[in-house]
Amino acid sequence: MTDAMTNAPRKIIIDTDPGQDDAMAILLALASPEEIEVLGITAVAGNVPLALTEVNARKICELAGKPQVKVFAGCDRPLDRALVTAEHVHGQSGLDGPVLPDPTMPLQAQHAVDFIIETLRDAPSGSVTLCALGPLTNLAMALRKAPDIAARIREIVLMGGAYFEVGNITPAAEFNIYVDPHAADIVFKSGIPLVVMSLDVTHKALVTKPRNDAFRAIGNAVGIAAAQMTEFFERFDREKYGSEGAPLHDPCVTAYLIAPQIFTGRHINVEIETKSELTLGMTVADWWGVTDRAPNAMFMGTIDADAYFALLTERLARL
Ligand code: BDR
Ligand code: CA
Repeated sequence: MTDAMTNAPRKIIIDTDPGQDDAMAILLALASPEEIEVLGITAVAGNVPLALTEVNARKICELAGKPQVKVFAGCDRPLDRALVTAEHVHGQSGLDGPVLPDPTMPLQAQHAVDFIIETLRDAPSGSVTLCALGPLTNLAMALRKAPDIAARIREIVLMGGAYFEVGNITPAAEFNIYVDPHAADIVFKSGIPLVVMSLDVTHKALVTKPRNDAFRAIGNAVGIAAAQMTEFFERFDREKYGSEGAPLHDPCVTAYLIAPQIFTGRHINVEIETKSELTLGMTVADWWGVTDRAPNAMFMGTIDADAYFALLTERLARL
């Protein structure tokens, strides 16, 4: 979906904690310059600590053959609680599976939060979309530090939360929201248009064996690495869910920018639980419209998974 007025590619910042599925989301964006212009990639602590996520982000850019992309390091811990990581899913590096060389492209000196603020202030209002693939710490910090940017953001498309699927890191919460519920609360209360790719969507986007084989069959370095990455984190989810493959969460965000028609959802009210020990980080989604709370998010619930994997395979072949 290019910019409707100009047909120019949509300008985005990708905020991320790579993560194999983050990597796939970034590769999809970098493979789609007709629809997406990546202004920068901002790393945050999440799946693994920041020192690894910023390196992983650069490894992915180099894998894509795009070392000119600017990568920034952001917050190394959530706003108000200790960092929870997910090495049990993603491996010690966060990107286990393929062996990728250490990056030679530089990390930008500017802090990710300042990059986000500066970019939004410099660009025409309403022209920049934020894509969030990890805990929302960097975005919330930017909104706290520079509240004026809220009105300048076109929309935030994020992976996080759940309604029907409830939780994956606790019985009640999805990982990205659970890691920094206070940041999520700031983002969901910001009034910025939100598109939410919840577990209700991503649990329908499973990397089955034929889909994994299709990545490998691309035959280029990216396709082979994609197959190795999805194979690696599949082992955990297969055991956990007993499903035929693991959910490929984060590329739903960048796929939405290219093919929004493959998703359906409802514009509803979503609030974040920040106090309860039992349900911390729960996305309390008013799917059935039982309150009079104003809608604040387009909360996605379905995906055409065949179209999604066809898009990914076709685009990764371009890199
Ligand atoms: C989310 O948590 C992370 O482990 C994944 O990268 C994804 O962003 C899924 O709950
Ligand atoms: Ca992620």
